[in-house]
Amino acid sequence: MKNRDLAEWGRRAADWSASYLDTLSDRPVRPPTRPGDVRASLPAAPPQEAESVEDIFADFEKLVVPHMTNWQHPRFFAYFPANSSPPSVLAEWLTATLAAQCLLWQTSPAGTEMEIHVLDWLRQMTGIGEGWYGVIQTGAAMATLSAILTAREKALDWAGKEHGLAGQPVLRVYTNPNSHSSVEKAVFLSGIGRENLVKVDTDADESMCPDALRAAIAADRAAGYLPCAVACVLGGTSVGGSDKLEPVLSVARDEGLFSHVDAAWAGSALICPEFRDMAAGIEIADSVVMNPHKWLMTNFDCSAHFVKSVDDLKKTMSITPAYLVTQDAEGIHDYSQVSVELGRRFRALKLWFVIRAYGVCGLQAIIRNHVMWAGALAKRIGATPEFELTSPPRLGLFSFRLRPHGSVDGEALDRLNARFLDAVNVDGTIYLTQTVHDGRYVIRVSIGATATEAKDIDIAYDTIRRLAVPFMADAAE
Ligand SMILES: Cc1ncc(COP(=O)(O)O)c(C=O)c1O
Repeated sequence: MKNRDLAEWGRRAADWSASYLDTLSDRPVRPPTRPGDVRASLPAAPPQEAESVEDIFADFEKLVVPHMTNWQHPRFFAYFPANSSPPSVLAEWLTATLAAQCLLWQTSPAGTEMEIHVLDWLRQMTGIGEGWYGVIQTGAAMATLSAILTAREKALDWAGKEHGLAGQPVLRVYTNPNSHSSVEKAVFLSGIGRENLVKVDTDADESMCPDALRAAIAADRAAGYLPCAVACVLGGTSVGGSDKLEPVLSVARDEGLFSHVDAAWAGSALICPEFRDMAAGIEIADSVVMNPHKWLMTNFDCSAHFVKSVDDLKKTMSITPAYLVTQDAEGIHDYSQVSVELGRRFRALKLWFVIRAYGVCGLQAIIRNHVMWAGALAKRIGATPEFELTSPPRLGLFSFRLRPHGSVDGEALDRLNARFLDAVNVDGTIYLTQTVHDGRYVIRVSIGATATEAKDIDIAYDTIRRLAVPFMADAAE
């Protein structure tokens, strides 16, 4: 394939992309694919001779597309959104064409400076205050790992990096029991050990209890442990619960512990001033992560990690072999020196395209609609006798369950809801996922796809209601 073919096929790929996005609503959100179907359609061995792009593209349409779960579908209400948008896709194409490695300033001056600059735009947009340095990570999990590694090294005065953890005091990390699994993963990957992640008691509102946090730190110190970090959640994955940041982060600060806020999903909503109350106190934190690739119309991977001390991050991550020595541009950090990864894509370009193509007001309007629709749908479902709302709408997320008249909590009701959810997802009109909340199996509705419109919310309600009918009959028998 020659560069000229790229121009020709690029036009065809662009046409294909626009039609795909235009026709998503007519496709099932999840494909009726069974495990093994895709591999069974592929040759066992790679081709020895070159194949034509015509053939490759035809197979892409025939063998790949029908077996994709359509994350950009307007009725994708599962997990959390993983947004994309036309300007973001366009920038991804250009990023792939430039194919630059953005490890050092000199390997990509624009890549480096735009990452600093666009993250400063995002900092301003979200109102998290002054004094942050931004790094685009592959995901929130990588940002949280970077935060926990920094906390570990800071507590050990960077002795772990030099000598390893053997012979060092046992470190402790404190978190909300509802924090994302990436916190636990960061704790074991950083060598702190899973058993040293302390899940702090919560108040009735699912926030870590500040007194319980203080008491846990004191008890650990008395027992000879070395407390090092507090990891808070803003917009939890299960049902959207959050820590009250101001009191919890104040305990971390007063105790001299590094603090990290995982706002992977909810962080994008902070671009709307009316949603910032939930983040009151965020400026106290040492580290915050939010994912434009979840809810800010920007393709994966684009996770915005903000740290107060880029020097601490750099002391933790940096290594400079002779072949990577460069003259640091004055005041500019080479991104590979503040990241786990060495090679890095030009990820800031798509965020720059998105922010410019929508404007802050355009992005706010999309998020406000999602939040409004989640509230309206939760209200309708909550008012329908066969359903029960199991958690209130928090931004674009709420949960519910089927609750036939006279049914009682327990395994039978959980099983009924699992079968109901399966029926909803096999139908393909909408896609929902489950969680366990307060010990009960519940169904999450997460509204945040770029393409969702008001009519999709009506379709969601009608689908849920229609598919519940046989289950109500089953329950009555
Ligand atoms: C609250 C929260 N934190 C972290 C993550 C992990 O995000 P990523 O896939 O960007 O690593 C998720 C993913 O859904 C999440 O919901």
